[in-house]
Amino acid sequence: MLDTRISRRAALMGAGAIAAWLHSPAHALLSQAATVEVPPFIDALIAKMTLAEKAGQLSLMASAWGGSTVINPASGSNANFEQQVEEVRKGMLTGVFNGSGTHMCRIMQTAAMKESRLKIPLIFAADIIHGHRTIFPVPVGEAASFDPALAERTAAAASYEAAAAGIDWTFAPMVDVARDQRWGRTMEGAGEDVHLGNLFAAARVKGFQGASLKAIDTMMACAKHFAAYGAAEAGLDYNTVDVSERTLREVYFPPFQAAFGAGALSAMSSFNEISGIPSNGNEWLMRTVLRDEWKYQGFVVSDYTGDMEMIDHGFAADAREATKIAFMAGVDMSMTSGFYRDHLPDLVEKGEVPMARVDESVRKVLAIKAKLGLFEDPFRRIDEKREAARSRTKATLALSREMAKKSIVLLKNEGDVLPLRKGGQKIAIIGPFAAGQHDLNGPWCVYGDNKLAIDLETGVRNALGKNAQITVVEGSQVEAPLPGGIEAAVAAARNADVVLLAIGESERMSGEAQSRTSITVPAPQQALAEAVAATGKPVIVVLKNGRALALEGAVKNAPAILVTWFLGSESGNAIADVLFGDYSPSGRLPMSFPREPGQQPFYYSHKPTGRPNPSDEKLEEYKTHYRSIPNSALYPFGHGLTYGKIDYANLTPDKGTLAWDGEIAFTATITNRGTRAAEEVVQLYIRDRAASITRPVRELKAFRKIALAPGASETVRFVLKRAQLEFIGRDLKPTVEPGLFDVWIAPSAQAQGVHSTFTLTA
Ligand code: NOJ
Repeated sequence: MLDTRISRRAALMGAGAIAAWLHSPAHALLSQAATVEVPPFIDALIAKMTLAEKAGQLSLMASAWGGSTVINPASGSNANFEQQVEEVRKGMLTGVFNGSGTHMCRIMQTAAMKESRLKIPLIFAADIIHGHRTIFPVPVGEAASFDPALAERTAAAASYEAAAAGIDWTFAPMVDVARDQRWGRTMEGAGEDVHLGNLFAAARVKGFQGASLKAIDTMMACAKHFAAYGAAEAGLDYNTVDVSERTLREVYFPPFQAAFGAGALSAMSSFNEISGIPSNGNEWLMRTVLRDEWKYQGFVVSDYTGDMEMIDHGFAADAREATKIAFMAGVDMSMTSGFYRDHLPDLVEKGEVPMARVDESVRKVLAIKAKLGLFEDPFRRIDEKREAARSRTKATLALSREMAKKSIVLLKNEGDVLPLRKGGQKIAIIGPFAAGQHDLNGPWCVYGDNKLAIDLETGVRNALGKNAQITVVEGSQVEAPLPGGIEAAVAAARNADVVLLAIGESERMSGEAQSRTSITVPAPQQALAEAVAATGKPVIVVLKNGRALALEGAVKNAPAILVTWFLGSESGNAIADVLFGDYSPSGRLPMSFPREPGQQPFYYSHKPTGRPNPSDEKLEEYKTHYRSIPNSALYPFGHGLTYGKIDYANLTPDKGTLAWDGEIAFTATITNRGTRAAEEVVQLYIRDRAASITRPVRELKAFRKIALAPGASETVRFVLKRAQLEFIGRDLKPTVEPGLFDVWIAPSAQAQGVHSTFTLTA
C-alpha cells in the first residue's frame, strides 16, 4: 500500500537509526551502499554472448515509439519503431528510455524474450523526475518543504504509478548542487545547500527504490549528473566547470555519496568538463573516486550523447576514439549515440579495449537486471490493467496536494494581508498564470498533462465555492506585452478589494538548456505589476518560478509574496489552501533570492573574505560589497514565514565544550506568539572560527519542523558530534580540528535567531 510502505533501509535500521544515519557525513553514508550480487547464470550467459551482443547490452536508445522524443535533440537512429524492434531481436540494445506505456513495453519485451537469440530482458527507463501522471512539485519546490520524509513518499508514489506503466528505471534524482540561479536546471535539484541536498538525495532514492527492486511498484534510481554539472561557468548549461578537488569533495560529491549510500545502483555521467576533462572521459572521477574509493557497485550511463560530445569538447578526435575514452574511463553504458555498438567490438578485436573490461560492464548491467527481477519475470512491470488502475489515483493526487502546499514559501506578509477571508471580498486574479491549463507541471514532465492540472483560478473557485467574486485578466504574456492587457488589468484591480498577481517564469524559461542572463521577472510582466500596484489595491504576488529570482520594484514591494514554483497536478488547490489559511505556509527557500541578478553565483554558505563588511546597514569603503548593495540575500536560504509569529529564545548548550568522542546538545525555546497555528522549520547553523582551511560563514547542520498552536512553545534540542564538524583538509581527506565554533539556532541562514559558541577539545 502506498502510504504505509516502509523503505528497505527503514526496515533494516528502524526509524531512529535512519534519522541518525542521514545526519552523518556523506562519506559515512557510503558504508550503507547497495551491493550487487552476480547470480551464477550471468557468467554462463556472458560466455555465450557475441561481442556485438555485449555491446548491445551496453547501448541504451531513446524510444522510437511515435517518432523521436521531443525532450531531447532527435538522435536519428531511432526514427522508426519497427526498426527498433528489429534491433531488439538482434540483441542490439539493452533497453529504451522515454517510451510509451505498457503496450509498447509488451511489444518490445515479447520480441526480446521470444525472438532474440539469448532472450535477455530489456530494461525500460524514463525521466520520472517528479511524478509520472500525477505530477508533484518540481524537485526544488519539494526541497522547499524541508521535509525529506515527504519527498520519499512522493518518489515512492511516482514509482507506484510509473512502474505500473512498465518503467524499471528512472533517471532521477538529480542531485547537482546549484549555486548559480542563471542555470535553468536549478529547478531539478534540491538547491544550494549540501546538507539539504544530501537528505533529499537519500530520501528520493529510498522512495523510488523502496524495500526491494524486485517489487512491482519500485524503480531503480539514477543519481545524476556526475559530477559538478551545476557548477557550469556563468550558469550556462553544458558549460565548462573548473572547481578545486576540495570543492568537489565538499560541495558537489556529498549528495552523490548520499544517493549511493541510500542504495542507488545507477549513475549518469555529466555533460560538462571539469578542469579540462569531460566527465565522460574522466577516469579519476569514474574509477578512482567512484569505484575504488566509494566502492560503488552499480553502473554508469552516459547522459544522452555525452560520449559523442567529447568530439565537440575537443577531447576525442572521432567516434571511435570517443568510444574508447568513455568506456575506459568507466562509462558502462552509452545512451543514444550508438557509439558503443558501432565501435566497441572493433576496439576489442584490435586489442585496444580489453574483453575483461567489457565483460565487467556487461556483468554489472545483467546483474542489475536480475536485481530488478527482470530475468525471473521480464513482464513483471508490464500490466495494462495495473497501468490504468494506478494512474492518478485519489491517494497520489492527495499526496501531490499535500506536497504542493508544503512547498510554497511565504517570503513576505506585511500587515498580515494573508490569509484572505473566504468570501466577502472581490478578488482580481491578474497575470499570465492567473488561469489556463499551462505552466502548471513544470518543464520536465515526459508523461504529465497540464490539461489535467488545477490552475490558480480553479483552485480559488474551489476554495470559495458560491462565495467567489472573481475577475480574471491575463494582463500580459509571459515575455511580451498583450495589447490592451495593462488597461484591462488596471480596470479589474480598481474594481477589486485585493489582487492576486500571478506572474513569473513559464515552463520554457527553466529546465535544461534554459539558462538566463538576468534572473528577473520578464519586463512586460514587471510593467503589469507596476501598473497594478499603482492602483493602490493590496497586491499578493503569486510567483511562478523554477529558480530564485531577483525581485524588483512593485513585485519586491508588494505587501505579500508567495513563491509557488511549478507545483504540479494540484497547483491551484494548493495555492488556495495557503491563500485562504486552510494551511499555514511552512516552506523555506532551498536557495537564496539575491538582491540583484549580478550577485550570481550566490550562496549563503560562502567563505569569509579578509575584509568583511561589518553590517548590511553600512557599506564601508574597501570592504567586501558591491558599489550599491550589500552582498547578502534579499531573502536568504532557509527563509520562509508562517501565519504565526515565531520567537526564538534561550539557546542553552548542555556543556561548554564538545569532547573529541563526546556530544553536545543545544536547546532553544521556540514560541508562537501569533493567533494562528504554524509549522516552523528550526535550523541549526555552525561556523568554524579558525581552521587550516578557511570555512564558510555558516553551514546548516540540522533542522527540525515543529508544529506550534497559537501561544504554544516548544523546546527544540539538537545534538552535535565531532563528525558534523568535518571538512576537507589540506590532504583532501575529511578532517576535524579542535577549536572554537559558533552555533546559531535560527529561522534562516541570515537571521540571528539565538547564538552561542562551544569549543571542540582534542
Ligand atoms: C539529458 C538530461 O541531461 C538528462 O538529465 C536526461 O536524463 C537525459 N537527457 C535523458 O532524457
